[in-house]
Amino acid sequence: MRNITIETITEAVERALGEDIPARNRELLTALVRHIHDFAREVRVSHGELLQACEFLRRAGDISDEKRNEFILIADILGLEVLVDMLDHKVVDGESESTVLGPFYREQAPVLPTGADISQKSYPEQATVYVHGAVRDTDGRPIEGAVVDVWEDAPNGLYEQQDPEQPDYNLRGRFTSDAEGGYAFRALRPVPYPIPYDGAAGELLRYMGHHPWRPGHIHFKISKPGYQALITQIYDAETPYLDNDAVFAVKESLVGDFLPAPPELGTDFALTFDFILRPAA
Ligand code: BEZ
Ligand code: FE
Repeated sequence: MRNITIETITEAVERALGEDIPARNRELLTALVRHIHDFAREVRVSHGELLQACEFLRRAGDISDEKRNEFILIADILGLEVLVDMLDHKVVDGESESTVLGPFYREQAPVLPTGADISQKSYPEQATVYVHGAVRDTDGRPIEGAVVDVWEDAPNGLYEQQDPEQPDYNLRGRFTSDAEGGYAFRALRPVPYPIPYDGAAGELLRYMGHHPWRPGHIHFKISKPGYQALITQIYDAETPYLDNDAVFAVKESLVGDFLPAPPELGTDFALTFDFILRPAA
């Protein structure tokens, strides 16, 4: 195709797609090209702005490595990770709502007995919490043997892999639900923290005029063969930023009450939270 115009360029790219590519490649690329071309036409992207965007992506690549992926942060700040998560995990049968995984999950967290403390350091200034509840299926039956993988930030707002002062796998643990579906662990009351904003993600936040803060939360990944794995977070009902999370991941059903704990628990607060898993598709 020659003499391509503002109007025909989109079709020209679509026609350039190979005949033998998988149908999903075609679907993704056709829609992507249509949307970015429409975007450029709508706002009249200038060549200078295109180069700025390319430089921005180069800086995002430069700061990324196997421990830090700037692109997932950019997707989070633009609400894309939470949107994709909602599309992937529509609530159909009363199961618990999911939310973003975020960039700080690590596999192979220590396997701990019910009730153990996930903190490997002492934080005398920080309130502690006993987190417990049950894992059930959508018919209300307990799920025994579910792996409840949890992680949270330290009182300085950093996850252990961001902070050389923290022991490896600090504030992470894997628990197993018992015959009643019960799980329990001891943790720190989570504090709000800013997502990393010293790189391209921070540039984007400044461009948007938005702050980098997330409300205090504890992450959960709950899995058992035969059930759809649940990746979610529990938010402290009293934390700031519930209504203006930098990554738009808060859902009302995931907000929990940190209540004063009875003395026998040995923590400052107790949080009861049940999870419902649905059978795997
Ligand atoms: C998190 O909750 O760990 C997180 C989620 C999205 C971006 C950054 C952090
Ligand atoms: Fe987090």
